[in-house]
Amino acid sequence: MLNLVIFGAPGSGKGTQSERLIDKYGLHHISTGEVLREHISRGDELGKIADSYISKGQLIPDDLMIRVLENVLDSNPELTAKGVIFDGFPRTIDQAKALKEMLAKRDSKVHAVIGLEVAEDELMRRMIQRGAETGRADDNPETIKKRLKVYHTQTQPLRDYYIAEGKYHGIDGTGSVDDVHGKVVDSLTARLPEHV
Ligand code: AP5
Ligand code: MG
Repeated sequence: MLNLVIFGAPGSGKGTQSERLIDKYGLHHISTGEVLREHISRGDELGKIADSYISKGQLIPDDLMIRVLENVLDSNPELTAKGVIFDGFPRTIDQAKALKEMLAKRDSKVHAVIGLEVAEDELMRRMIQRGAETGRADDNPETIKKRLKVYHTQTQPLRDYYIAEGKYHGIDGTGSVDDVHGKVVDSLTARLPEHV
C-alpha cells in the first residue's frame, strides 16, 4: 500500500509522471482534472459547474471538490486497498486536511508528496504547445496566466504544509520524462524503501 500525492504547478508533469509510476508500482491514479473533464464532456450538472471555473482558470470550491473525490473513493473501494496516486488533489490546505481524514477513515494515509519543480517559462512553453496540439480548452495564454496565479496564491502554501509533515520530496521536474521519472524513483527508494 502506497499513497502518493503528485504536486506541482499546471504543466509541471503531474499526469505524465503519474503514468510512469502506475506502470512501475501498479498503483491507481486519480486526476481530479481528468475526473472533471469527463463530467464536462458528458455535459452533466457537475460538468457545467466545473466548466464555469476551469474556463476561468479558477479552482472548483473546496466543499464540492472534496465531495467529488470522496465519491470517487466510495465508488471504487479497490483503489485505496492497493494505493493511489493523487494528481491535482489536494490544491488547498482544506483539501489536504480533508484527504487526511478520508484516508484515516480507510486506515491509511499519504505516504509521500512528490513536488515537481519547474520554472515558469518552461511551464508556459509546455502548456502553449499542448494547447496547440490537443486543443485543451484551458491551455491558452490568458487562462494559463490565471492558473499559474491561482497556483501561487492557493496551492503553493501546501508545500510548507507537507514539509512540516515531513512528507514533501521536491524533484527538479526539468529534463526528459525519463530523467524526471528516474529522479522520482530514486527519491522514493531512498525515503520509502519498505514501500517500493
Ligand atoms: P488539472 O487537470 O489538474 O490541470 P493542472 O494542474 O493545471 O495541470 P496539467 O494537467 O495542465 O499539467 P500536469 O502537471 O498534469 O502536466 P502534464 O503531465 O500534463 O486541473 C485542471 C483544472 O481543474 C484546474 O485549473 C481547476 O480548475 C480544476 N481542478 C482540478 N483539480 C482541482 C482541485 N483539487 N481543486 C479545485 N479545482 C481543481 O504535462 C504538461 C505538458 O508538458 C504535456 O504536454 C506533457 O507532454 C509535457 N511534459 C511533461 N513532462 C515533460 C518533460 N519532462 N519535458 C517536456 N515536456 C513535458
Ligand atoms: Mg494533469
